[in-house]
Amino acid sequence: MCGIVGVLGREAVAGQIVEALKRLEYRGYDSAGVATLEEGCLTRRRAQGKLRNLELRIKDEPLQGRVGIGHTRWATHGKPTENNAHPHASDRLAVVHNGIIENFRELREELTAKGHRFDTETDTEVVAHLVTEELRQGKAPREAVAAALPRLRGAFALAFLFEGEEDLLIGARQGAPLAVGYGDGEMYLGSDALALAPFTDEITYLEDGDWVILTHAGAIFHDATGLPVHRARQRSMASAFLIDKGNHRHFMSKEIHEQPEVVGRTLAHYLDMSEGAVRLPFDLPFDAKDLASITISACGTAYYAGLVAKYWFERYARLPVEIDVASEFRYREAPLKKGGLMIVISQSGETADTLASLRYAKENGLVVLSVVNVATSTIARESHVVAPTLAGPEIGVASTKAFTCQLSVLACLALAFGRATGALSAEREAQLVSSLIAVPGLMAEALKREPLTEQLANQLSRARDVLYLGRGTSFPLALEGALKLKEISYIHAEGYAAGELKHGPIALIDEDMPVIVIAPFDPVFEKTVSNMQEVAARGGRIILIADQRAEHESSIDFQAVIAMAEMEPDFAPIVYAVPVQQIAYYTAVHMGKDVDQPRNLAKSVTVE
Ligand code: G6P
Repeated sequence: MCGIVGVLGREAVAGQIVEALKRLEYRGYDSAGVATLEEGCLTRRRAQGKLRNLELRIKDEPLQGRVGIGHTRWATHGKPTENNAHPHASDRLAVVHNGIIENFRELREELTAKGHRFDTETDTEVVAHLVTEELRQGKAPREAVAAALPRLRGAFALAFLFEGEEDLLIGARQGAPLAVGYGDGEMYLGSDALALAPFTDEITYLEDGDWVILTHAGAIFHDATGLPVHRARQRSMASAFLIDKGNHRHFMSKEIHEQPEVVGRTLAHYLDMSEGAVRLPFDLPFDAKDLASITISACGTAYYAGLVAKYWFERYARLPVEIDVASEFRYREAPLKKGGLMIVISQSGETADTLASLRYAKENGLVVLSVVNVATSTIARESHVVAPTLAGPEIGVASTKAFTCQLSVLACLALAFGRATGALSAEREAQLVSSLIAVPGLMAEALKREPLTEQLANQLSRARDVLYLGRGTSFPLALEGALKLKEISYIHAEGYAAGELKHGPIALIDEDMPVIVIAPFDPVFEKTVSNMQEVAARGGRIILIADQRAEHESSIDFQAVIAMAEMEPDFAPIVYAVPVQQIAYYTAVHMGKDVDQPRNLAKSVTVE
């Protein structure tokens, strides 16, 4: 999604702005731009495509301005052309925007009637003209912004730069994140602390509805009613994380390899390793034994983590789980019981639909527990309880380590709830906890299958379609496997519950269709073997991901077997995610795709 940067500096700022934009690249974008004041006059450089195009543009036509704003755009309204790239400008100001202005059509009509001319297909341009209209009526920049903001509907973050105003930037936040950074004689605006990490670790996050005036003297915050408010500074941890690829070709590869470490770190946060028991690092504002059910909502990979967790909560705590993708949940008027529990899962903590589901649940009197990776995110801040995943920043658009950390947290929660409801015996809890403790080591072991996954990817890269099958907790992993492959290799893939094979997808099976079966040696293994036989009988090529026992028991002629170590099958999705991710990764690498920033995708989806 779009990224915003603003710098009120001491020397030429264009270089700093581009450097900060690079740290927002992970969010996904398709054009970029910078605006500065050159001797008081608004000047823009914009370019379609990657930031290096913008850098070349600035190299050809350098910018010297000491105040400026920059943007990476992920197209929503209008194609990713240079003309639609931000900043958008009038003769009086330039603006960058993340999010959507829902009422832009009516505002455009109104402003057109007043003589404003629109040059782009974007919703953002109305913001430039709306504020310009206020300026034309004689208002100063801050009053003009204050007058314009209440007229905008939607979820957005904005940064403004004004003609002739060398000591002024204005930022606003409604729904999409924005942070102020404090430097040595410099002030910054950024979509997140990561963008500002090279300059400062002193940050203030704007609250929803806030807008802020930045000058060299500091930041003055206003709330949605326009009154000045105090917003606390905090020390950001973003600079503590190294945002580089290490020895890896791609962030995705680095993040896959980090999993034993970050899953270990996350589990250590929730488990008392010496006692062999779950110890939640927070108090729950409810007693799990009083719960009648759990509702879960999330998007994308986080949703699949929730689907796995449904099996765990139902099995260990005997609590029925209702789960839905957030874009459906938020609108389907689900009847919710006051006092119930809503779990939302999100890596970024900013996903618009997930946030809306959270708010719907709160309005209906539910307690919201969020499993999030970004502790300062909106979802974290609006939840009653935050269960952090300690994955560290995830830069690759395709989620990997955040997924396995989400699974780790959810497994611990399910065990804690199982103990509270009395459905899980102390003995079984101890067994399951020791199985969880073994997970990071098993993931490290799974990474050793890399040469085989690389070799298989070579063959998969020639496939037109790929089918993923699994039962039980392996079914959501099959869905996740298909999603990963689609996202980064653009090969059509589908995940199916193995038992559903004969109700449709079996019609697709032939010798050209690779079928990846995820089948740990669990109580439904025999059933999956029958499904594999149905595939084999029709000439299907099966790639089996299973432990050695499973391979031995099935007597089918597989195209390949990725043999995993024996483990507690309930937690197999956390470990089996590794080869599933590597298959997608190497297939995309083999096909020469942009693994870290696949086309059309965004890391943090702040529009619905
Ligand atoms: C986007 C990302 C996915 C992610 C999903 C949910 O589609 O590309 O990787 O799973 O959003 O994001 P969240 O930050 O809420 O986990």
